[in-house]
Formats: sequence, structure tokens, C-alpha cells
Amino acid sequence: MDNSFIVLHEQYSQRINRLLTEYLANIDSSLLKEAMEYSLLAEGKRIRPFLVYATGQMFDCVLEKLDAPAAAIEAIHSYSLIHDDLPAMDNDELRRGRPTCHIKYGEATAILAGDALQSYGYSLIANIPNLSDNTKILMLKELSFASGVSGMCLGQSLDLQAEEKVITLDELELIHVHKTGALIKTAIRLGMFAAGDKAMQYQRELDNYAYCIGLAFQIQDDILDVIGNKNVMGKNQGVDKQLAKSTYTSLIGLENSIQACQRLYKQAIEALDKIPYNSHALTQLADFIITRNS
Ligand code: IPE
Ligand code: IPE
Ligand code: MG
Ligand code: MG
Ligand code: MG
Repeated sequence: MDNSFIVLHEQYSQRINRLLTEYLANIDSSLLKEAMEYSLLAEGKRIRPFLVYATGQMFDCVLEKLDAPAAAIEAIHSYSLIHDDLPAMDNDELRRGRPTCHIKYGEATAILAGDALQSYGYSLIANIPNLSDNTKILMLKELSFASGVSGMCLGQSLDLQAEEKVITLDELELIHVHKTGALIKTAIRLGMFAAGDKAMQYQRELDNYAYCIGLAFQIQDDILDVIGNKNVMGKNQGVDKQLAKSTYTSLIGLENSIQACQRLYKQAIEALDKIPYNSHALTQLADFIITRNS
């Protein structure tokens, strides 16, 4: 991967961090706000905002139209992480290099911080001044579908049900494309909606790309749980094994999981090749997803 990805990732990350800080500054101080801020402004990779920005920019959409959707998806992703770490779910104590939200603020406040981040995400989109009402509704429909009972939450529920069980690879793929793939697909679609018709005619190709990198993202997450470094990841390693989770590595082993990621990478690039616009940033992101160590 060349240096241009690192530069672009840094540029988008700085932009989203600045925006999230500015948006949050408009909320009155409270313990709840402090807990939201603690988790949202901690050091995340900001992959979903990257996808919103890179997809939009591929079709010449201005960054200003992509800001609120990028912030919205990061708020909803951060909510999913707070809840994922709760004692009733993965019972984790380290996230984004910090004690998890419930360790720092207690379980009740962490639950509420997750809830509030979720509705905050929707309000960011509803309040965008520079998009049409039609586009906002498209975005809200997309985001609410992807985070709920047919998307991320379903995946999380299936993930919990699959603890200490032997499931098939198809069942595991279903879990992964819901718990992680759904919001990744939505990030790309939000960028696409903001860019308008020019981008929307390539929805099928973008969805194919999204499916592949969404699944690859979670397979790499499973791989890192086995071979990753806690300090680099900013979260604990070995959690999946401890909880007897169904993961790619537990089901098909490390080597086959690495190969599965590489196959998905190739498929993702094939999908991008069908779009006659400059998709270099999305290609680089796919590469990052399967080679990352955090
Ligand atoms: C972690 O997501 C949870 C999964 C969906 C696998 P990320 O790896 O994107 O976490 P951050 O945002 O960088 O902390
Ligand atoms: C989490 O999957 C997916 C969501 C938060 C929706 P994991 O439980 O594998 O994520 P990590 O490993 O804790 O980041
Ligand atoms: Mg989990
Ligand atoms: Mg977890
Ligand atoms: Mg994991």
C-alpha cells in the first residue's frame, strides 16, 4: 500500500474528529454527555467515515455534504461498541486504548450513552442543512434498517446465540455480514446517496464491494483476536476463545481465514473495476482491511 492511503486516512480522520468535537460542543454538559464523548472521541480507526467520504468523493460529491452522514455512522458504530463490551454481551474491559465505557462510568450510564449515541446519529442526519429532505429520508431509512433487527442488532444477537456452539460456515457468514457488514454497507450507501444519481446507478457494484469488505473486515477481526497485539489494537486479545465464540478462526483455522480474506479482497476489487470512476481510495481501503493489525 502506498503512502497516499496513509495521508488520505489521516486527512479524513482529522476531519471527522474535528467535526465530532464541534458537534458535541453544542450539547449541554452532563454525565451522560461525558460518557458519550469518552467513547466517541477515543482513538478509533474511523473506517466508516472513511467509506462515506471516499465513496462520495469518487463521484465528485463535496466533503461538506458528507460530514453529517460520516459523523452519524461513527456515532452509531460507537454505540454498538459500548453495548458490545457490556457484561451481558462480550464483557470487555478495554476499548480504543481506554477502559470500556461501563468500567469508567458504570453499567447504567454506559447503556444510556449507547442509547443516546444511537439517537444522536439519526438527529445529525435529520438536521443536515445542505441536503434535500428526500436524501435525508433515504439516509435515515438506510441507517435505521442496517442498525436494527434486520442488520447489526440481529447479527449481535446471533453472535451471542452461537457461543459455545458448533455452527456451519454459512451460519457464521450470516452473523458476520449482519453484525459488522451491515453498517459498512450503509457507510458506502450514505456516501452514494449524498453523491446522487451519478453514484446511485452503481449501487449494485458498490453493494458487492461492500459485502466483500464487510465480511473480510470481521474475518480479520477474528484473526486479530488470535494473533493481534493488545497494545496495538487498543482492545483485549483472546476474548473470542474465552467466550467460546463462533469465529472464522475457530471454524476453519487461521490459514484458511487468511485465504478467505484474500479471496474477498479480489472479489471486492472486481466489483470496483466495473465502475468507471477513480476507485483507488476504496481499493486501498480493502487492502488496509485485510492487512491491518489494529
Ligand atoms: C470493531 O470495529 C468492531 C467490529 C465491528 C469488528 P473497528 O475495528 O472499526 O473499531 P474502531 O472503530 O477502530 O475502534
Ligand atoms: C462486534 O464484533 C461487532 C459490533 C460491535 C457490532 P466483536 O465483538 O468481534 O468486536 P470486538 O472484537 O469486540 O471489537
Ligand atoms: Mg461481540
Ligand atoms: Mg466484542
Ligand atoms: Mg472481535
